[in-house]
Amino acid sequence: MPSKVFSAAVVGLDAKIVEVETDVSYGLRFFNIVGLADQAVQESKERVEAAIKSIKFSPPHRQPIRVLVNLAPADLKKEGSLYDLPIALGFLLASKQTKFEPADKIFLGELALDGKLRPAKGVLSISLMAKEKGFKEIILPKINAFEAALVKDLKVVGLESLKEVTDYLEGKKKIASFEVKPEDLLENPNYQMDIGWIKGQEYAKRALEIAAAGSHNLMMEGPPGAGKTLLAKAIPTILPKLSFGESLEVTKIYSVSGLLPEDKPLINIRPFRSPHHTSSEVALIGGGNPPRPGEITLAHRGILFLDEFPEFHRDVLESLRQPIEEGNITISRARNFLTFPARFTLVAATNPCPCGFLNDPEKKCTCLPSQIAMYRRKLSGPLMDRMDLFINVPALKYEKLAAEDNEFSSEKIREKIEGARQIQKERFKEEKILTNSEMNIPQIKKYCKIDLKSQDLLRKYVNSGKLSARGYHRVLKVARTIADLDSSANILFEHLAEALMYRTKEEK
Ligand SMILES: Nc1ncnc2c1ncn2[C@@H]1O[C@H](COP(=O)(O)OP(=O)(O)OP(=O)(O)O)[C@@H](O)[C@H]1O
Ligand SMILES: [Mg+2]
Repeated sequence: MPSKVFSAAVVGLDAKIVEVETDVSYGLRFFNIVGLADQAVQESKERVEAAIKSIKFSPPHRQPIRVLVNLAPADLKKEGSLYDLPIALGFLLASKQTKFEPADKIFLGELALDGKLRPAKGVLSISLMAKEKGFKEIILPKINAFEAALVKDLKVVGLESLKEVTDYLEGKKKIASFEVKPEDLLENPNYQMDIGWIKGQEYAKRALEIAAAGSHNLMMEGPPGAGKTLLAKAIPTILPKLSFGESLEVTKIYSVSGLLPEDKPLINIRPFRSPHHTSSEVALIGGGNPPRPGEITLAHRGILFLDEFPEFHRDVLESLRQPIEEGNITISRARNFLTFPARFTLVAATNPCPCGFLNDPEKKCTCLPSQIAMYRRKLSGPLMDRMDLFINVPALKYEKLAAEDNEFSSEKIREKIEGARQIQKERFKEEKILTNSEMNIPQIKKYCKIDLKSQDLLRKYVNSGKLSARGYHRVLKVARTIADLDSSANILFEHLAEALMYRTKEEK
């Protein structure tokens, strides 16, 4: 009788059940794995044989025995080494060397030659699926237990070796479910800087505050050394905390990408990604074979910072247009499509021209008009239309730069932002969105009502061509965030006027 144990395959960010069927019969020596298995799964045979031998069971090659392993469903691609443990257990069951009830358990883990278990990727996705599909237990490498235990009401058994697994399954060893303590989930980030260390630039700091509060896109322009990169690096210090639900979303992404730190398997700090301007399209938006999340997905619920913005390849920048609008990215794979979440706040920084001193009151710009035109081409058009806040970051005068430190102000700003986020959370509790930036047109209509005076102002901007239809909606969302920072139920004229001020780009 063939044996059947359960494991899982991660497709995109979600897991699917994989049935590992093993048939053992007497005949010419033979060990085969079928079911769209990649090279790493094929190599599993060698690891499984060595691991079984190490714990004194009889490995498949010992006797004249035929072993056929079928990974079902056959049309789902199986990748990686996580099937080692279920294949080993399937063989031990089918060859009657062990006995246990496999029906309500999910197994995963790579085996070392000495039978030790090595960690796998995508564990959170697998344990979420296990719970959803009604499995009772997940049995996996000990290092992965914390991550799996983020899912409640599922017994998580983290073990160190194949021997421990068989002892546990045969009832020779009792193991309690791994529990995550609530204090493990709290972490106060240790910031390396504070926004108060940045002198002057009050206007820019206010724009950062608004961007962080409502998750609005921000573009900074200024001469070299003005502090643009510094300002961007201060953003993590004012970002609101991730809720537990958001943490799980982000952790799933990092887990599947194999980027989860072993000592801290829950990401509870908003991501801040700063890819280099030589990054390829695949690195930025995701893809490859197997498809992996790109920087925009790794920045989900956090910040994607593109420094030296015009130096990025044009195609790479253009590919951001759709995900900025949709909050996700769809990647086509050989036979199907995969969607990764990508709801990030875009922060970009640029010089005004290649030499950096265009329109500078003190220094003369040395660029040719054609060079300036070339440079600015990437700063115009549809991508810029998706920016909510444009700010100039001017070079500082000595008096400001040498002024006393305003040491710690990140905490105060963060508190204000947390307040604004709380208001948004309340407002959108029935809407399946979290921030003002995510509002669709009906939601804008419902939540961004403005008075007659404000309507007149907006009419002027739109009718004179200074504001596109998209710009109009984006301004209303920013105004909503400014009102939230002010704890104001209504959007007042001053809120709208401030929001419009950050769209100066349109006036040029
Ligand atoms: N407002 C400021 N307060 C304190 N230090 C500053 C400020 N602005 C700039 N500096 C100093 O100048 C350095 C360079 O700033 P930064 O790298 O942010 O400039 P930038 O605007 O990104 O320039 P570039 O366009 O060349 O990339 C900082 O590391 C810091 O030492
Ligand atoms: Mg810089």
